[in-house]
Amino acid sequence: MTRRAILKGTGSALPRKRVSNAELAERVDTSDEWIVERTGIRFRHIAEPDETTGTLAAAAAKEALMAAGLEASDIGLVIVATATPDNTFPATATKVQALIGAPDCIAFDVAAVCSGFLYAVSVADSMIRTGAADHALVIGSETFSRILDWDDRTTCVLFGDGAGAVVLSAEDVEDDRGILATRLHAEGQYSDMLYVDGGPSTTGTVGHVRMQGREVFRHAVTNLAAVLGEVLGDVGLSASDIDWVVPHQANKRIIDATAKKLGLPADRVVLTVDQHANTSAASVPLALDLAVRDGRIKRGDLVVLEAMGGGFTWGAAVLRV
Ligand SMILES: CC(C)(COP(=O)(O)OP(=O)(O)OC[C@H]1O[C@@H](n2cnc3c(N)ncnc32)[C@H](O)[C@@H]1OP(=O)(O)O)[C@@H](O)C(=O)NCCC(=O)NCCS
Repeated sequence: MTRRAILKGTGSALPRKRVSNAELAERVDTSDEWIVERTGIRFRHIAEPDETTGTLAAAAAKEALMAAGLEASDIGLVIVATATPDNTFPATATKVQALIGAPDCIAFDVAAVCSGFLYAVSVADSMIRTGAADHALVIGSETFSRILDWDDRTTCVLFGDGAGAVVLSAEDVEDDRGILATRLHAEGQYSDMLYVDGGPSTTGTVGHVRMQGREVFRHAVTNLAAVLGEVLGDVGLSASDIDWVVPHQANKRIIDATAKKLGLPADRVVLTVDQHANTSAASVPLALDLAVRDGRIKRGDLVVLEAMGGGFTWGAAVLRV
């Protein structure tokens, strides 16, 4: 028997307001045609003032708990992956803990931007396997709209807000269910290619997203294909064994190019970028929840998660649902 972190439930939450490319084009010099052709994005959800990273995360967490058949009091660990916390401190995870009514437990945030959910899953997996917690809520939640420069058409059209959550529970298993392997990477020498030009210890302001789009694109395809190869190699499997890939939803062209590099058919890839745009740390759990709820991802499926983001950071996980 092996103690593993098993996926018990998923949930997600999106802000009420949905904004189309055409609506954005009324505000900045862009067009539906340009955005769809370069990115595959058609819509994004944008948080209203009463919707925050914490409230969206708590809503997603409640859904995931319900799907898992657990109560907030069962949870021993809450991790929120975010680059847009409600406050500089305390951690948004503690806010979520309070909002869902979870008593004393471990709660902290992980900052790895778009790869944050993969980092959080990997940390939760380790903590579950070593016995620090039996049930964990792992959440990716963002309100990127608050850190976008709405006059910069090269970035503001790409991002959206939302949250996704999973419940991971410890089980002693004899089969190959659960999280089988994770791989994480970071190369800080590329930090100026995708960053926010503010922060508490530098400018004392929140700042705005800045990006060298072409460079990010090039690194993303190379790094994601490599890390998928690594994580599959760790468990002795190949691309043909994968039932579903749930990629970070930054850009359809990055997702297509990565799948092609690995020889993965497009109908095995979960796509939500058209509806949600890039929701950073929320994109993978949001897409995962969608595919679980519509019945595509079923018990027994081999699922691979991957993401790349500012830092650069990137990572992948392979799990049997
Ligand atoms: C951002 C991205 C879509 C831009 O596509 P691209 O083909 O590289 O386009 P470029 O940046 O070279 O710009 C091409 C032209 O479109 C223009 N343009 C940029 N944004 C535009 C917009 N929203 N609407 C219309 N035109 C736009 C540019 O000004 C440029 O015009 P010019 O040729 O007159 O100078 C693409 O680089 C990309 O997806 N990169 C990865 C971004 C990403 O996913 N980041 C998050 C990772 S976590």
